Amino acid sequence: MKKIAIMGSGNGSNFEAIVKYFAQKPEMEVDITCLTDDVNAYILTRAKNLGVKYKYLPFEQNGAYFAVNNFDLIVLAGYMRILPEDVLNLGKFINIHPSLLPAFKGKDAIHRAFDAGVKVSGVTIHHVTSDLDGGKIIAQYPVLIGNLTHFDEFEAEIHNLEHKLYPIVIEKLLKDEVFDFSDLLGGCSGNCSGCH
Ligand code: GAR
Repeated sequence: MKKIAIMGSGNGSNFEAIVKYFAQKPEMEVDITCLTDDVNAYILTRAKNLGVKYKYLPFEQNGAYFAVNNFDLIVLAGYMRILPEDVLNLGKFINIHPSLLPAFKGKDAIHRAFDAGVKVSGVTIHHVTSDLDGGKIIAQYPVLIGNLTHFDEFEAEIHNLEHKLYPIVIEKLLKDEVFDFSDLLGGCSGNCSGCH
């Protein structure tokens, strides 16, 4: 049995995608706890609807909580506070960010990337440090922005990609394996003739 905590402050769509992914893989035996620092966050409603354990965990109580609750992995999914080193030392924390880091760190990354006119953006999953959206990169995947791409399409593509990528990367980490592009492309490395 692997224990993971998913921490979010808002909508919780990544949380839901992760829960649904592991529900399809009972052989993985992943035990999920939802943690939020905002009692009004929609992630809590999702946890209740999905029948997942949840807890309101104020930011100031993170240290005390993680000192006595051990997880194989702590997954940040829209957690909007910077965690200090003393808390980060209590577990293995990863985060997802909707840009190709180190570009467009911080809030509103999808808008800022689009407004900057970049032609390739994407999603990054990385280890967490007390530097905002810093930490070593674990996995990245691109999204192309064509000349006719509307913002709403781009945003939807980023979120769809997040929902596919995050569960796979979490599974890899729980199995002590390393993510590669072929894990998302179904056996292809991203360079085959069908990719061009
Ligand atoms: C996601 O797009 C995630 O990448 C972003 O917050 C959103 C949370 O959505 N995180 C950051 O910008 C971190 N700097 P969700 O609550 O629906 O999963």
